[in-house]
Amino acid sequence: MKCLLARPSGRIDGSIRVPGDKSISHRAIMLGAIASGTTRISGFLPGEDCLATLAAMQAMGVQVERGGQTDVTLAGVGLRGLRPPAGPLDMGNSGTAMRLLTGLLAGQSFETTLVGDASLSKRPMERVAQPLREMGAGIETQSGRPPLRIRGGSALHGIDYALPVASAQVKSAVLLAGLYASGTTTVREPAVTRDHTERMLAAFGQAVRRDGPVVTLEPAGRLQAAPVDVPGDLSSATFLILAAALARDGALAIEHVGLNPTRTGILEIFRLMGMDFTVEAQDVPPGAEPVGRITVRPSQLRGAVIPPSLVPLAIDEFPAVFVAAALADGETVISGAEELRHKESDRIAVMATGLRALGIAVTETADGARIQGGPLGGGEVDSAGDHRIAMSFAVGASRARGRVRILDTANVATSFPGFAALAQRVGLQIEETGSSDPHR
Ligand code: S3P
Repeated sequence: MKCLLARPSGRIDGSIRVPGDKSISHRAIMLGAIASGTTRISGFLPGEDCLATLAAMQAMGVQVERGGQTDVTLAGVGLRGLRPPAGPLDMGNSGTAMRLLTGLLAGQSFETTLVGDASLSKRPMERVAQPLREMGAGIETQSGRPPLRIRGGSALHGIDYALPVASAQVKSAVLLAGLYASGTTTVREPAVTRDHTERMLAAFGQAVRRDGPVVTLEPAGRLQAAPVDVPGDLSSATFLILAAALARDGALAIEHVGLNPTRTGILEIFRLMGMDFTVEAQDVPPGAEPVGRITVRPSQLRGAVIPPSLVPLAIDEFPAVFVAAALADGETVISGAEELRHKESDRIAVMATGLRALGIAVTETADGARIQGGPLGGGEVDSAGDHRIAMSFAVGASRARGRVRILDTANVATSFPGFAALAQRVGLQIEETGSSDPHR
């Protein structure tokens, strides 16, 4: 089993980029594959999740050229040009790949089956299957979970759908199916979620109207290939932002990182907790994803009551918020975050268990937790195979009283290949090990 061994550290500094945005990389592959013309993607995230999406598109006949790790060129086959794959498509650990592809595949003329790893096989899929069935698609789940059988060959029609949960994945699945539907597709969100699909569809010539929490698409019948520059992933940057704030000394600049306002809830949360950082926006062409530099300095964090309105805008960053709270003065209250129980692990339960193992008082609630800041001890925690939990504890260890061994960390490669090496470069003491080596 792969593990991370993380030790206390002092100075964090440097100027770095983090790997490309996972959400945008998935979407660039999907839209590039079904566009007309050649799509060039720069800054692609070569993590296992996005590689699963890429492999699925190749299995359906899309020609792909890789220029190094982060440059990908796709020869788009057009909206109706995908071919039946030879077997089931393996989405690995990726909920985004499975849910967005389900929408896209609902509109094809052929049948597909989507499978995933042990974690993905436990995640809820009726949330996408149900609206797609309302559009006329034939989708079967296994008691609501993967594998998914998408029958294809159905004539889809647009729907007006009120999302029961704030989910960009469900919204995106419905919009992608809407490309293949007759009539208008409308999605109503209970709270605004990441809008990368809407922005990228517009960049590919498919207009999407947004009116507050209501998104509407009238299918144009065609996507036109367009270049995609993928910014650094703010969700990955979060671990290093937190590390730099916890440091005793130094300053860390993260360059060319995505600053889409539907993703920057974590910056508001860190600000509430007293973090000292600056954000400088870069000039980008109209319609492009906002990008900029974040510079972080050592900060004494304080506990905060996290406004539930920020939850959808920081949904992937809560493992890091739990760790920030553990190292802050006073109490932090997280609520309105029940969705965290349906991520790569039950992030409320796994974070609470891990923090308690390191001596922190945590009270779990149905939709969040109360975390009392205090000295963080050394010890051993189980990440439950969840990449973001593994990286959060690795960063927290920089301020622990002893070393922290984090178990089951192979999935860090799903979203942040090279995490330990980049962390070491800025001054963190994080190494990859196996659990069988008790002397390290
Ligand atoms: C994502 C949406 C979010 C997020 C996930 C990526 C996306 O999931 O947690 O990591 O790319 O659309 P939900 O839609 O389930 O909230």
